[in-house]
Amino acid sequence: MTLMTPAQLAAAVPKAELHMHIEGSLEPELIFALAQRNGLSLPYASVEALRAAYAFIDLQSFLDIYYAGASVLLHEADFHDMAWAYFLRAAADNVVHTEIFFDPQAHTARGVPMDTVIQGLASACARAQAELGVSAALILCFLRHLSEEDAFNTLEAALPYREHFIGIGLDSSEVGHPPSKFSRVFARCRELGFHVVAHAGEEGPPAYIWEALNDLQTERIDHGVRSLEDPALVAELAQRRIPLTVCPLSNLKLCVVDDLKDHPMKRLLDAGLCATVNSDDPAYFGGYMNANFVQTVEALHLTREDVITLARNSFEASFVSDERRAALLALLDNAVA
Ligand code: HPA
Ligand code: ZN
Repeated sequence: MTLMTPAQLAAAVPKAELHMHIEGSLEPELIFALAQRNGLSLPYASVEALRAAYAFIDLQSFLDIYYAGASVLLHEADFHDMAWAYFLRAAADNVVHTEIFFDPQAHTARGVPMDTVIQGLASACARAQAELGVSAALILCFLRHLSEEDAFNTLEAALPYREHFIGIGLDSSEVGHPPSKFSRVFARCRELGFHVVAHAGEEGPPAYIWEALNDLQTERIDHGVRSLEDPALVAELAQRRIPLTVCPLSNLKLCVVDDLKDHPMKRLLDAGLCATVNSDDPAYFGGYMNANFVQTVEALHLTREDVITLARNSFEASFVSDERRAALLALLDNAVA
């Protein structure tokens, strides 16, 4: 791979994806197909009309459409088919390990049982390992616009399936819903042995990242791009090697940055942070892993070394066993040798 451009190398290297909401991988075509299969009508005349509605001005304008899209998911097969479609795309982008967020409250609130959600996703994860050689794990996210009590009830409902998920995350509308709102339920999740992560510093201030670290004791920060506004926070993240799961095309589509050329990824790397590239909600934001990686490399003129660092960071930041991590890093070393 020595003759490749940095962008070509970015596409070719093995990597992990650590920040992808499975409901955000629902392509408009699949939304329409599932609606038809389930006898539901959609408030959009066509796939094109739905896609045309994907003009977001901020996180909330996206979330409204994201939850509406997810409402076509009713049966175990729907969750399985959605995840399987993502795994095929991820494998094509040389993703060899992925940690997938899911939002059970978006489904249980509509009357879909927890069992349906988790069994459908878990069977797709097992199939990805068996048929594609992609290792996959699930991270259950609490919706932060709902109450901590609702999060506790969701945790309770999911515990019979705990063998199927490795961690707990926090997503949905950030501003006005600081991490500290969920301190008690995250303490319980840590006590139960789950990995813990949280979205912070996407639209919210650096203070929310401090709260994720101090109140929730998260092992990674999802997004975290606003950390650069606080030098003491950058020093803390660097010193503790807290990974940031950054999503460049998401930041562009949700107007966190005006242009990919202004994206903070290069500054995060230059500050010595363990930043990674991820797709967030690839069906809504214009691309999967390699679209994010390649466009970021090109817009910011990232080097071959930056690309290798980002791929290496993705494995360092993942929640795999030491043995699997060593195998993944060896795969990367071989690919770039
Ligand atoms: N941010 C917060 N919550 C979300 C997102 C996101 O980008 N995608 C799905 N839920
Ligand atoms: Zn996200």
